[in-house]
Amino acid sequence: MTSRVSLLILGLLSCYKVASYDPNDRLHLTPYIRQGNITTARELSSVTYRDDNVATSHSGFITVDERLGNHLFFWFFPAINSNPRAPLVVWLNGGPGEPSMLGLFHENGPLRLQPNGNGTFMLKIWNGSWAETFSMLYIDNPVGVGYSYSDSGEIGCRTTQEGYSKDLYEFIQQFYIMFPEYLQRELYIGGQSYAGKYVTSLASRLHKQILNKKSNIPLTGIYLGAPFIDPYSQSKAMSGYFYSSGAISLRQHRDHQKLVDSIFDQLRVRQISADQAVTTLLMNNSIVGLWANNYNARSVTPYEELWYLMNTPAMRTLVHAGNTTFVIGDDGFRAKFNVDWTKSVKAELAVLLNTYKVLIYNGDLDAVVSSVMVDAALAVTRWSLKDRYGESVRDVWTDGYKLKGFFTWTGKFCRVVIHGAGHNAPYDQPVLSLDMMSQFIKNGCIQNEHILL
Ligand SMILES: *[C@@H]1O[C@H](CO)[C@@H](O)[C@H](O)[C@H]1NC(C)=O
Ligand SMILES: *[C@@H]1O[C@H](CO)[C@@H](O)[C@H](O)[C@H]1NC(C)=O
Ligand SMILES: *[C@@H]1O[C@H](CO)[C@@H](O)[C@H](O)[C@H]1NC(C)=O
Ligand SMILES: *[C@@H]1O[C@H](CO)[C@@H](O)[C@H](O)[C@H]1NC(C)=O
Ligand SMILES: *[C@@H]1O[C@H](CO)[C@@H](O)[C@H](O)[C@H]1NC(C)=O
Repeated sequence: MTSRVSLLILGLLSCYKVASYDPNDRLHLTPYIRQGNITTARELSSVTYRDDNVATSHSGFITVDERLGNHLFFWFFPAINSNPRAPLVVWLNGGPGEPSMLGLFHENGPLRLQPNGNGTFMLKIWNGSWAETFSMLYIDNPVGVGYSYSDSGEIGCRTTQEGYSKDLYEFIQQFYIMFPEYLQRELYIGGQSYAGKYVTSLASRLHKQILNKKSNIPLTGIYLGAPFIDPYSQSKAMSGYFYSSGAISLRQHRDHQKLVDSIFDQLRVRQISADQAVTTLLMNNSIVGLWANNYNARSVTPYEELWYLMNTPAMRTLVHAGNTTFVIGDDGFRAKFNVDWTKSVKAELAVLLNTYKVLIYNGDLDAVVSSVMVDAALAVTRWSLKDRYGESVRDVWTDGYKLKGFFTWTGKFCRVVIHGAGHNAPYDQPVLSLDMMSQFIKNGCIQNEHILL
C-alpha cells in the first residue's frame, strides 16, 4: 500500500533538486545559517516541482535549541505573484498536536491532496491559496508535532508559553538571517484555535525584544482564527452556541455554566488538578458530542490522509525530512498541555491590541470556538479600546446581494465573523477568507463594496 501511494506521488512530483545532501538525511539549515552561508542554505532547502505553475518553495529544519537538540520543520512559499512587497505571513495550527502542514494542505496553502477513491491520492496545485499574494510560512510546532522533533525526546518537549514561544522566536530570528529581504516587508503572525496561545505568546516575546531594541523584525500585526485565549470565559460561553442553535435546552445551558464555574473554583483553590479540570471540560460534559460535530459537515479534517502522505518516502524526500516520522499529536500528547490549557493569554493579547494591527475571525458555524466564545474572551481583555469595542455595533459584510459575514473595526482591531464557515474557516470559505486577509493587510479591515440599491 505504502509503495503504491509513494509511486503515484513520485510520478507527479518528479524532478526535484536533491543538491548535495543525502536524501535519507534531514536537512539541517542552522549550520549554514550560522556560517552566513545563505546561498547554500537557500539552494539546499529549495523544493522544485515538475509543475511549472508553482513557484519554488523552501523546506527544512532550523535548530532552535542546541542543548536540547530541538529542530523545527518549516515549509515556506514565497508569494506566487512575485510582488516584491508581499508581506510575510506565518501560519500555525493548534491542537495542541496539530501540524501546520494541516493548514497548508487543508486550509490556505497552495497544495491539495486529491484522493483517487481507491486508497491512493495525488498532490494538486491549488490557485486559491493565500500564497498567491502573501509569502506563507508554515511551521510545525512545537517539537514533537509534524516533522519537528527533539534529539532529547520527551525532555525537549515545549508545553508552556515560555517554552514554545522561545523556540518559535529563535526560529524567526534564523529565518530572517536566511531570508534578509523580508526585513523590508511587513510581518503578520497568525494561526487558528490553540495557536491563539502560540501566536500571542510569540508576538508578545517579539514585541518585548523590539521595545528593547534587541530585534528589528518588522512585526506589523497578528491574526487569530477562532482562537483559544482565555479558558474560563471561553469555557463558560461554550454552551451559548448550542443553546442558540437549539441543540440543548435552557436548563442544559445553565447547567453547563454552573459546571464550568465549579470546575474553575475548584482549580483556583487546588481542589482539583489541571488534568481533572481539562478532562471534565473537554471529555465529560453534556455538550461534548455536539462540540465534536462542529456544525459544518463539509469540514471533515483529513488527519489520516495527511499523516499517510507525509510519512511516504517520496514526500519526506521532497521536503528534506529524511527519515523523520511525521506525527499528529494524540491524546497523550495533548494531555501534556493541560496546565498550559488552563492559562490565559489575555494580558499578552491586550498589549498586542494596544500596539499592532490585530484581526480576530471565526466562522458563524464554528462550534469549537464560536463567536460567543471569542467575544467572551474579548470582554475580559483589558486593552485601551475595550469599552469602545464593547459598545460597538456590528456591520454587515456584503456586496449588496450576498451576505459574506459581519465585522467591527475598532482602532487597529478588526473583528470578523465569516458566514458559512466552521472551525477551519479558510477551508470552508476560501474566497471569503482570502478576501478578509487581503482587506485586513491592505486596508486594516473589511470595506464593503459600493452597495447598489
Ligand atoms: C557553503 O557551503 C557549501 C556546502 O557545504 C560549501 O561548499 C561552500 O564553500 C560554503 N560557502 C561559504 C562561503 O562558506
Ligand atoms: C487509483 O486511481 C488512480 C486514479 O484513477 C489510478 O491512476 C491508479 O492506477 C489507481 N491505483 C490502483 C492501485 O488502483
Ligand atoms: C484557478 O483555477 C481554476 C480552475 O481550477 C481556473 O478556472 C481559474 O482561472 C484559475 N485562476 C487563476 C487566477 O489562475
Ligand atoms: C464524568 O461525569 C460523571 C457525572 O458527572 C461523573 O460521575 C464521572 O466521575 C466523571 N468522569 C470523569 C473521568 O471525570
Ligand atoms: C534515520 O536516519 C538516521 C541517520 O541516518 C539514523 O541514525 C536513524 O536510526 C534513522 N531512523 C529511523 C527511524 O530509521
